[in-house]
Amino acid sequence: MKKVGIIGSRGMVGSVLVDRMIAEGDFQHADITFFSTSQAGLAAPNVAGVTPILKDANSIQDLGEMDILISCQGGDYTKEIHPKLRKNGFQGYWIDAASTLRMQDSAVIILDPINQLLIEKAIDNGIKDYVGGNCTVSLMLLALNGLVRENLIEWVTSMTYQAASGAGAQNMLELIQQMNYLGESYLAQKQQHPHISALEMEKQLTHEMRFGDMPKENFGHPLALNLLPWIDSELANGQSREEWKGQVEANKILGTTSNPIRIDGTCVRVSAMRCHSQGLTIKLKKNVSIETINDLIKHGNQWVHFVENNKTATLKELTPSFVSGNLNIAIGRVRKMTLGDEYLNAFTVGDQLLWGAAEPLRRMMRILLPS
Ligand code: HSE
Repeated sequence: MKKVGIIGSRGMVGSVLVDRMIAEGDFQHADITFFSTSQAGLAAPNVAGVTPILKDANSIQDLGEMDILISCQGGDYTKEIHPKLRKNGFQGYWIDAASTLRMQDSAVIILDPINQLLIEKAIDNGIKDYVGGNCTVSLMLLALNGLVRENLIEWVTSMTYQAASGAGAQNMLELIQQMNYLGESYLAQKQQHPHISALEMEKQLTHEMRFGDMPKENFGHPLALNLLPWIDSELANGQSREEWKGQVEANKILGTTSNPIRIDGTCVRVSAMRCHSQGLTIKLKKNVSIETINDLIKHGNQWVHFVENNKTATLKELTPSFVSGNLNIAIGRVRKMTLGDEYLNAFTVGDQLLWGAAEPLRRMMRILLPS
């Protein structure tokens, strides 16, 4: 059996990955060892078939004994360890959740329902680094799989509504603390002024958000009762790095970098927990009937959950609360826009930790393992 090392299994993406691997029986297909940067020598997660002791994730020698390494440890770890491992002669496969290696020519961005052929070709060509894509990119491509496959898309604007989880586990907890802080302010106001109006309450809570002690160490700003229209660092052209990733990563996944689908938009953090939503305007290459479009989207892949464009279905099924914890990617609000016959509106919601992070990694591992 191939030896697989998993690094960072106690973090958020790592634990979602392990849960999925258990659910899919992945542990029966490989000899799996967990690595830790801080707890080497302690007991590994209690999963049947797993080496019982955690190994040192900083030991180039121990890591080098694996055939496949999966890292959920984050970008700093990749930056430090990956070059050392390769320099030390590691010839195995490196599968990574972090973005560090994504745009390097020596790495493939993995999203196998979309680019399995590209992945297989890369394996044949001896490529050893496989990196999960940015979550909004992966979720958008999976939702639009049917249209992408038919080469119908000229450009897309994606206005995102990204969950707290995309910023990290601490941010998720901080969002809830912020909500709690405002909830307590609300209750205190209500107790003092039982007949307080909505406008007066808004004034009090906004005052708390601006001048109070709301927990904001991680976000730096209130997210509860608010939104934050900037994600990741600033680029010279005015885009955020998250916005920049849209076009470059999607086209790298599709193998269309030399003749790219243009993709741009505004990325916004909202107070959802772990589902990223996106409002899409899609310019089609030609006028296609809405029935055909619906059909193509519905049959894009087995994870597309097509939501009919009506109020009842949309409010029930096209929401983060409905999709959370689910591998299915909801897409709805599909309609021609009044802008013209080639302009399509759509809205998609996907779990940022599943298809947006963990799922492509475990599937890549399975591609590399004998079935
Ligand atoms: N960069 C994404 C976000 C998450 O901040 O929501 C990881 O792809």
